[in-house]
Amino acid sequence: TALDDDLLTPEATADPYPLLDALREHDPVHWSADHRAWLLTRYDDVSAAFANKALSNDRVRPVRAARAARGETSDSAADRVLALMSEWMVVSDPPAHSRLRKLAAGAFKGQRISAMDASITALVDELIDAFTGGDLIAGVAYPLPATVIATMLGAPVADRDRFRDWSDELALVAFGGGGSDRHERALGGLHEMDAYFRSLIEQRRSEPGDDMLTAMMGTEQDDKLSDDELSAMCALLLFAGHETTTNSIANATLALLRRPDDLARLRRDPDLLNTTVEELLRFDGPIKVINRWVVDETEIRGRTISPGERVHLVLAAANRDPERFADPATVDIERSPNPHVAFGKGIHACIGAQLARMETRIAVGRIVSRLPDLALAAEPRWKPAVASRSLEALEVSV
Ligand code: HEM
Repeated sequence: TALDDDLLTPEATADPYPLLDALREHDPVHWSADHRAWLLTRYDDVSAAFANKALSNDRVRPVRAARAARGETSDSAADRVLALMSEWMVVSDPPAHSRLRKLAAGAFKGQRISAMDASITALVDELIDAFTGGDLIAGVAYPLPATVIATMLGAPVADRDRFRDWSDELALVAFGGGGSDRHERALGGLHEMDAYFRSLIEQRRSEPGDDMLTAMMGTEQDDKLSDDELSAMCALLLFAGHETTTNSIANATLALLRRPDDLARLRRDPDLLNTTVEELLRFDGPIKVINRWVVDETEIRGRTISPGERVHLVLAAANRDPERFADPATVDIERSPNPHVAFGKGIHACIGAQLARMETRIAVGRIVSRLPDLALAAEPRWKPAVASRSLEALEVSV
């Protein structure tokens, strides 16, 4: 069967786990002929796949090659944006990946991230102050991550709203959806974004600041990112760090609202926040599936995997593998150790994980402590999406 289609049925959109449990148990290396893709659902197979050199992250180049083979014009706006995205480290293999990752690493040093604790808390409090009930995603979980990234890049406060629009437009282009006119409109926005980042880069060159963008300019290193690469990097950080973090905050809050005992325990003992956030990333994390492109023949659990095929690493299934996690379908807010793969593993493991954890911890911590009467006001619906685990809205009363 076409698994992508199965995962998009209304039942599986609401709750993909029964289907993933069945696959993990009966067909852990599942072939979907329609998609020419393998689905890995066991923790050990997913973990090993993250280290398998036959599996490539270079996922944009094949898409561009296929477009070219179909004779689609190379000067279309879509192709121009695909060209920008093909510079991203998340779709690169070594050695290009190693170089980009090393140059970006300076911006993600632990100290730089922990120094943002107070400003993120202030931002969250500001959003909660203005929140009088309704959609908690629109009110808190959605605006926070884009504002944090804008702040980290050193963008002026007045420009921060535009980051959210650009982030939505990037997602539209990366994941598709909407008609081609929406696509075109999104591309217009992305050109504006590129111009914006370039002028920000120019400013920082003449006037270095204590921000992430300045850090990524790598003034002390011989090798430097070009302006093209810096602009693409800013776009990647916005894209990779926005919806994921929104969903991490929203999914965690929903799981707690559905478990009043855990919520009460967490309110009594805020020291449980760390393990709670890890557990909820495991239990219902923002990314269900990560893709790889097969470049060399390889074998997984006795199956031959051939070049040109794709492999889906189903994080949502690995994170509930009973071989790895006791009582995987149960939330245990004190679970430790908790070696979940919500942030991936290996050379591409999320570079923003510390920041994402901090944002989720602060947002969830402030939401539960500052909104003591928080309650679900409507049964939330999940977006029909294969790769992400994302609520349409989280309607609450406060
Ligand atoms: C990579 C998850 C937040 C930036 C990844 C990967 C995962 C992931 C699974 C691996 C992708 C792969 O192997 O192909 C998440 C989750 C987040 C989150 C669940 C929120 C809870 C962030 C944030 C940022 C960020 C806040 C930055 C501001 C990146 C980048 C990569 C990445 C740049 C690519 C790293 C590389 O290719 O070496 N993320 N992420 N992420 N993430 Fe995150």
